Amino acid sequence: MEQQGSYQVNTISASIENEINRLKGQVELFWDNEFKHYIEYGLEDGKSIVEIGSGPGFVTEKILQSFPNVQITLVEREPLFVDYSGKYLSEAGYENFDIINKSIMNTELPDNKFDIAIIRLLLEHLPDPVNAVKEIYRVLKPGGKAIFVDNDFEMHIMTYPHIPELRDLYEAYCSSRYAEGGNPKIGRELPYILKKGGFSNIYFESINAHSEVVGEDLFFKSEGIGIPVKLVQDGFLSSKKLAKVSVGWRNMLKNENHSIIRQLYMAVGEKM
Ligand SMILES: C[S@@+](CC[C@H](N)C(=O)[O-])C[C@H]1O[C@@H](n2cnc3c(N)ncnc32)[C@H](O)[C@@H]1O
Repeated sequence: MEQQGSYQVNTISASIENEINRLKGQVELFWDNEFKHYIEYGLEDGKSIVEIGSGPGFVTEKILQSFPNVQITLVEREPLFVDYSGKYLSEAGYENFDIINKSIMNTELPDNKFDIAIIRLLLEHLPDPVNAVKEIYRVLKPGGKAIFVDNDFEMHIMTYPHIPELRDLYEAYCSSRYAEGGNPKIGRELPYILKKGGFSNIYFESINAHSEVVGEDLFFKSEGIGIPVKLVQDGFLSSKKLAKVSVGWRNMLKNENHSIIRQLYMAVGEKM
């Protein structure tokens, strides 16, 4: 039986609505920089794409906005997201997508079907990322490319002025995810995991967002209070420490030169 890993929409945050808003903010925060890399590594109009762990469909929406003639298959294990993304994309008027309710560990898709695979913020939640990568390798055409994007919580939000208490929050987050079988510091391991999964010609990038460039509202939207509150409820973080983070955050924002940055890690591999 497949282990569930460290992402369950019903339990990761204080509410599902908070979580969906956070995922939307997280797409918007990085999109301009991230999308440039997707294009650099072969995404273009007309391609057949598989997006696994597609969640509410916000990444799919961005791709369909820019490339109306791609065909995207969304693969999602969580029925709530299968329903949400189907409705969301249909109501936005998109047609060239289909959604299957499967796990990345066994998609049941045919061999050699897709030009591009996108797997964003999923590997970090899986107990067995190498076998997940092998499944992606299987469904790509020879010459196809897979783009994996993940966090490494050694480096998450950093601010000027520095907020030392943020470290406590991220260590609590990591303990919670590790306890569920995830790996929130997987970013640094991605090239090695891709190689073990069969990929060649591997590239590695970091994708950055800075409050002065993208605006600080997107940072607020993509962080939110839902996950920290849940960490307190689950006993991974004390309410006293969370209160200190809130005070530190408010003080940081009062500094007229304040800055907020965050990064994601992208690894790309080719099926030879
Ligand atoms: C952090 S969310 C990221 C959603 C989306 N990729 C994004 O970047 O906004 C992780 C997603 O992976 C899905 N997921 C978790 N385990 C999965 C699995 N074994 N197979 C397929 N999807 C899975 C979750 O339900 C969720 O939609």
